[in-house]
Amino acid sequence: MKIIIINGPNLNLLGKREPSVYGSETFEAYFNTLQSKYPKVELSFFQSNIEGELIDKIHETGFSFDGIILNAAAYTHTSVGIGDAVKGVETPVVEVHISNVYQREPFRHESYIAPNAKGIIAGFGLISYELALHSFLP
Ligand code: DQA
Repeated sequence: MKIIIINGPNLNLLGKREPSVYGSETFEAYFNTLQSKYPKVELSFFQSNIEGELIDKIHETGFSFDGIILNAAAYTHTSVGIGDAVKGVETPVVEVHISNVYQREPFRHESYIAPNAKGIIAGFGLISYELALHSFLP
């Protein structure tokens, strides 16, 4: 099973960025733990701060992978382009957020991904990614 985690802008700063909201673990450390916990899953990871690169990665993986776990971060709330990319591919996409976006500012309550996502997981810290991974397991 081939699953990719795609992280959007500012998520490269996890561990340093607003630790009270996003925790103090780096994504790389979390990803290594996740990989070793699920050795049978071909798990890969991509992060970009650039909207078009995220769209390109969704296109690249969206016809051959079994699942995409997408935290589009701030672009979730603004990007028609990423929303259209999710709609345009065959691979199911699970929208993930580390924080509970519905407890936060109203602009974080809107998502261009959600209408075409398989599901949404938000608010469980980095474990949100593992819960999304579970949704793809047999
Ligand atoms: C986030 C929530 C977004 O509103 C925010 O812009 C992020 C991270 C989360 O994982 O909680 O950068 O997607």
